[in-house]
Amino acid sequence: MEYVKIFDTTLRDGEQAAGASMNIEEKLRIALQLEKLGVDIIEAGFPAASEGDFEAVKNIAKNIVKSEVAGLARATEDDITKAWEAVKYANKPRIHTFLATSDIHLKYKLKIDRAEALKRAVWAVKFAKKFTDNVEFSAEDACRTNIDFLCEVVEAVISAGATTVNIPDTVGYITPQEFYEIIKTLKNKVKNINKAVISVHCHNDLGLAVANSLSAILAGARQVECTINGIGERAGNAAMEEIVMSLKTRKDFFNFNTKINTKHIYRTSKLVSQITGMIVQPNKAIVGANAFAHESGIHQDGVLKERLTYEIMTPESVGIPQSLLVLGKLSGRHAFKKRVEEMGYELTEEQLNKAFKRFKELCDQKKHLYDEDIDAIISQEILNLPEKFKFVFLNVVSGNRTTPCATVEIEEDGKIIKEATFGNGPVDAVFNAIKRITKTKSKLLSFVISAITTGTDAQGEVTVKLEQGGKQVLGKGVDPDVLVASAKAYINALNKLELKKDLIKVNREDLP
Ligand code: KIV
Ligand code: ZN
Repeated sequence: MEYVKIFDTTLRDGEQAAGASMNIEEKLRIALQLEKLGVDIIEAGFPAASEGDFEAVKNIAKNIVKSEVAGLARATEDDITKAWEAVKYANKPRIHTFLATSDIHLKYKLKIDRAEALKRAVWAVKFAKKFTDNVEFSAEDACRTNIDFLCEVVEAVISAGATTVNIPDTVGYITPQEFYEIIKTLKNKVKNINKAVISVHCHNDLGLAVANSLSAILAGARQVECTINGIGERAGNAAMEEIVMSLKTRKDFFNFNTKINTKHIYRTSKLVSQITGMIVQPNKAIVGANAFAHESGIHQDGVLKERLTYEIMTPESVGIPQSLLVLGKLSGRHAFKKRVEEMGYELTEEQLNKAFKRFKELCDQKKHLYDEDIDAIISQEILNLPEKFKFVFLNVVSGNRTTPCATVEIEEDGKIIKEATFGNGPVDAVFNAIKRITKTKSKLLSFVISAITTGTDAQGEVTVKLEQGGKQVLGKGVDPDVLVASAKAYINALNKLELKKDLIKVNREDLP
């Protein structure tokens, strides 16, 4: 079976997404995870763009062993030299040079004609070839390029030595059928096309990036450029997880493999989201919180009897832990019981009935209940498990001309402990004080404030996510004062971490 190369550009085009910039360390963490995921090529950045980009690409090149490492370069001597200087440390380096070929770009952006563009493209590939054999050329805005001219450029750059020719839909304009025709035309008309790999790079402005990429594969493309979670310039790039899982799930139709270890997809998605701060929409295919959430009772019942009824792929196949599946208003007692057991609780029938009743009541107030909510029902209301830390008092001094300072009192095992600390902001000061009192070292993964009623006197709800020793918990706090809500949420999460530590013990020994 033929295979399609996965070229990941999360660290280059993905980073071009508004607000998604990453530092050198963060980029390396993502690159290492991409290598684990099994991507063929990691586009590590655009070395000529800034000193930071150059260093990040160099750092990645030095640390990645299995995947190829590519650096992007415009068709200039300076860019190509810089790209090489950064990727040359890689086990398998690649220079990726590009030049626009559409009349719109030539006329308005580059102010050159087609003949000049052709000359520059060929020159760039030949210049890059002086450094490495592994050269990719991209015809920027290829999908709005005159098809005869595109064929001419592709043939010329392959003759100049390009080993990969990339056909980007830079502005997300093409449709699947049209893209199929473009790739087919290149296959049929470009004499030396078999000497290079055809790659595609689709943007998602019309929401067609994945469909276009798949269509191109059917027409003969053997490399797809994509990003994790589909992040990227404007509406983003084709989402890797969607392309890979389409090929895998519909192997009967596409008949192509990739080298991706799909079990690492979810972790990679989480890491990219955490590092870039770009939240994954709940209904996002493959990695969204609801992607495998069967909400209706009929669906849940079907899935429990036989997954194939409503699941075309399993959450496990993309590495989603069972515990992330959400329950809702239409969930039946059977699904609830199964989840409670998976969470490690052994309840009596009576306790289970009580918990299920409470669960249903909460469902009327909240659309989805997560493990954390079920955890709260069982630990606090059914088993009355003790809270190690209890919030007592908070005073915060903050403002534009003062260093924020928080004084916090917490009751721990019946003893009141008080601490005052500074912070970078009032919330930071509050959390620093709590950490001091509780002597905990958990990592704050996320912090979200939302209003649960309207107006300036609204109740604020704070949700924090903490991690310690590989365990993640959500803590919630509600109060009209958002700083008090923050303190309550943080303490709530710390109590859950404490409970998780002892969960096994609790099940065996503390049950009434
Ligand atoms: O969208 C695009 O055309 C690009 C190229 C540089 C490959 O990102
Ligand atoms: Zn792009």
